[in-house]
Amino acid sequence: APIDLVVRNARVATASDVFDADIGIAGGRIVALAQSLPKAEREIDAAGRVVTPGGVDAHCHLDQPMAPPVRMADDFDTGTRAAACGGTTTVIPFAAQEKGQSLRAAVEDYHRRAHGKAHVDYAFHLIVSDPTPHVLNEELPALIAQGYTSFKIYMTYDDLKLDDGQILDVLSVAREHGAMAMIHAENADCIEWLTKRLEAAGRTAPRFHAHARPMLVEREATHRAIALGQLVDVPILIVHVSGREAVEQIRWARGHGLQVFAETCPQYLFLTAADLGVDDSYQGARCVCSPPPRDKANQEVIWDGLSDGLFTLLSSDHAPFNYDAPEGKKPGGEEVAFRHIPNGIPGIETRLPLLYSEGVLSGRITLEKFVELTATNPAKAYGLHPRKGTIAIGADADLVIWEEREFVLRNDDLHHAVDYTPYAGMTLRAWPALTLAAGEVVWDGRAFHPRQGRGRFLACGRPTLRPPRRS
Ligand code: URP
Ligand code: ZN
Ligand code: ZN
Ligand code: ZN
Repeated sequence: APIDLVVRNARVATASDVFDADIGIAGGRIVALAQSLPKAEREIDAAGRVVTPGGVDAHCHLDQPMAPPVRMADDFDTGTRAAACGGTTTVIPFAAQEKGQSLRAAVEDYHRRAHGKAHVDYAFHLIVSDPTPHVLNEELPALIAQGYTSFKIYMTYDDLKLDDGQILDVLSVAREHGAMAMIHAENADCIEWLTKRLEAAGRTAPRFHAHARPMLVEREATHRAIALGQLVDVPILIVHVSGREAVEQIRWARGHGLQVFAETCPQYLFLTAADLGVDDSYQGARCVCSPPPRDKANQEVIWDGLSDGLFTLLSSDHAPFNYDAPEGKKPGGEEVAFRHIPNGIPGIETRLPLLYSEGVLSGRITLEKFVELTATNPAKAYGLHPRKGTIAIGADADLVIWEEREFVLRNDDLHHAVDYTPYAGMTLRAWPALTLAAGEVVWDGRAFHPRQGRGRFLACGRPTLRPPRRS
């Protein structure tokens, strides 16, 4: 097909190289990378700016069913709108099985929530909360074959958690069918025991959420997840790793040759437990998420893990709840005990600009590493590469042109449907000047260009990540 769009004078960044080229696009795909491509019908001048692949946010929650009155603020419309304006062109949220529900029914329900609403492409992870023999032997293998090749296993949360035997069962299916198992590693019994003690002492303010989930409970569960994966002999991916002790467990596993992949999130780079409150004020509910943010020293450990290869990918874990709302952080309109505060913070739009500003422009990670963590590896981990996550001939024309400019972030700048951002007041040094999704402009640096239904469902292939380095 003839080239219908050229992105000219791009400083193209991939996970392996940075080079100057024009990018030729036809039919929504990249068809040429060359110097001095002939003039096309449509031209966008990148003017020597950095152009990265559109971000792949492989861990976000959109319109995920919650127990009433709690409801997520973002659905596939507002969630993918925010994603696009922040440079993310592929999202992988979760189709969550309720206990007693068939996995198939959960997937079909989630398709109804996404269909015709998404502005960027999407795939689904599964959440397996009820691994009955029917789910393990029939539904899961069939769904994996149909492009749902990853699932999340929870070790905590009453309505989602699996015991060790159930985890082994689910991991066995991952091994047999080549799926990717994501694990939320926190020890549920320790959390419950600590929560009861805190409640008995009247310590129910948001900040005590962090006291109920100390690093130890994450460290223990991380080690147990590693052991369970080793017993089954299957790769695992530990999600939202928050600090040093969990990192140590992952290094230990790698040192023993185990295939343990790891994800972290911006909240562990930019927030601390102090953001949950230094006194008993309810404001801290905004930053209640699990695992909780730790301290400055742990932030440094996470930065080191990003640059040295410990972390495979960086996701947002966008879990959008309004702060001042009865369906959000004040369930039923009340300032509730921390146990009842919906867990999660918004971040789907700020993920890439935060890492670009504080990682790339501060010299903590290279541009190549930025692309690897935010696009290439998430696409490989979940079987979407090389269609997604890179700038190459044949890949979808999902591109971000970066503009380096300093500004103080306000929630009003963002496009999610959440009434706050934990990062308000931070000085950012970069933001997308343009986001292209399959060759269409979705964000031009000032305005969002909506087209609900532009986002297509992506059936995922098998993971293609290389085994991690031994240490
Ligand atoms: O607090 C968080 N992270 N909420 C989202 C759900 C999860 O566990 O990822
Ligand atoms: Zn059956
Ligand atoms: Zn989780
Ligand atoms: Zn999550």
